[in-house]
Amino acid sequence: MMVREATRHQPWYDTKGTASTMSTLPASLPGGTWTLGDMTVTRFGFGAMQLAGPGVMGPPADHDGALAVLREAVELGITHIDTADAYGPHTTNQLIREALHPYPDPLHIVTKVGATRDEQGGWPPARRPDQLRRAVRENLENLGTDTLDLVNLRLGDAQGPVPGSLAEAFETLLELQRQGVIRHLGVSNATPEQVAEARTLAPIVSVQNMYNLAHRHDDELIDELAEAGIAYVPFFPLGGFTPLQSSALTAVAARLEATPMAVALAWLLRRSPNILLIPGTSSVAHLRQNITGAALTLSDDDLTELDKIDR
Ligand SMILES: NC(=O)c1ccc[n+]([C@@H]2O[C@H](COP(=O)([O-])OP(=O)(O)OC[C@H]3O[C@@H](n4cnc5c(N)ncnc54)[C@H](OP(=O)(O)O)[C@@H]3O)[C@@H](O)[C@H]2O)c1
Repeated sequence: MMVREATRHQPWYDTKGTASTMSTLPASLPGGTWTLGDMTVTRFGFGAMQLAGPGVMGPPADHDGALAVLREAVELGITHIDTADAYGPHTTNQLIREALHPYPDPLHIVTKVGATRDEQGGWPPARRPDQLRRAVRENLENLGTDTLDLVNLRLGDAQGPVPGSLAEAFETLLELQRQGVIRHLGVSNATPEQVAEARTLAPIVSVQNMYNLAHRHDDELIDELAEAGIAYVPFFPLGGFTPLQSSALTAVAARLEATPMAVALAWLLRRSPNILLIPGTSSVAHLRQNITGAALTLSDDDLTELDKIDR
């Protein structure tokens, strides 16, 4: 999908409506594209989780605002949206459907299964075969599609990856892939051993784990996946519910007259060509700021300084 010339070069404004730093959006999305199996996606994607209500439960306070963010993302050329039916639950998928269905050809929606929600807003695992089949069915219904482009098996718990075999759960998704319901598979919140195990069972096209400037436990895994042509999709690229904070980050951002978010996203794009971005936002202004910011060029000196961040 082409970026419209008219919107691309207009100044953007912050959420309060006051003139911001008058940046213009880059001519094309920063980072170019990546191929997930047989699907080409923009490396700059969009994470839909923040579109649900507080605590990722229930509907957003601003329904029309959430639809506007999704439509703007696609209008600006993003072809990769990350979601899960557990967001809300069902909320973000239903918003995606309302905003964007029928989906334009180049758009690919990536979802995940393997966790559900409880009444307290927790994320208990749901990886029995019957739970996975139901989750896939609910994704199809709420997104309004016959097939899912890419399904990540979400492992571990809210604290992070938990070791253990994924074979039974992964086999269930493989069966659905053989039936034509799922095009491509990936894993999420996974240990390196679980990624390796998945790769012995079937080709995977992506790994979605927590990773950002201050949380770099997957460095080795990223390099290994890059060599194998598998995408690494960091969740919480901006720190998630706790925004990234560090004096080194603030210093580099100040020197470049950029925001810490811009530096964090530009650093991820520079870190490895197989990294795809899915920053989340419920704000059109932030979406545009993030696209502009990710186009920032970081020097070797900037990278050295960013390596001083506590992690
Ligand atoms: N696989 C998993 O287990 C898992 C877990 C968590 C998330 N995810 C995926 O990863 C995606 C990204 O994670 P995330 O959205 O939680 O975290 P994130 O992208 O690290 O950060 C999102 C937060 O940053 C704020 N933000 C974004 N742009 C900003 C800007 N320019 N200025 C100021 N604040 C800004 C957002 O607030 P505003 O809304 O106010 O902009 C939001 O609170 C999710 O959407 C989801 O798809 C996957």
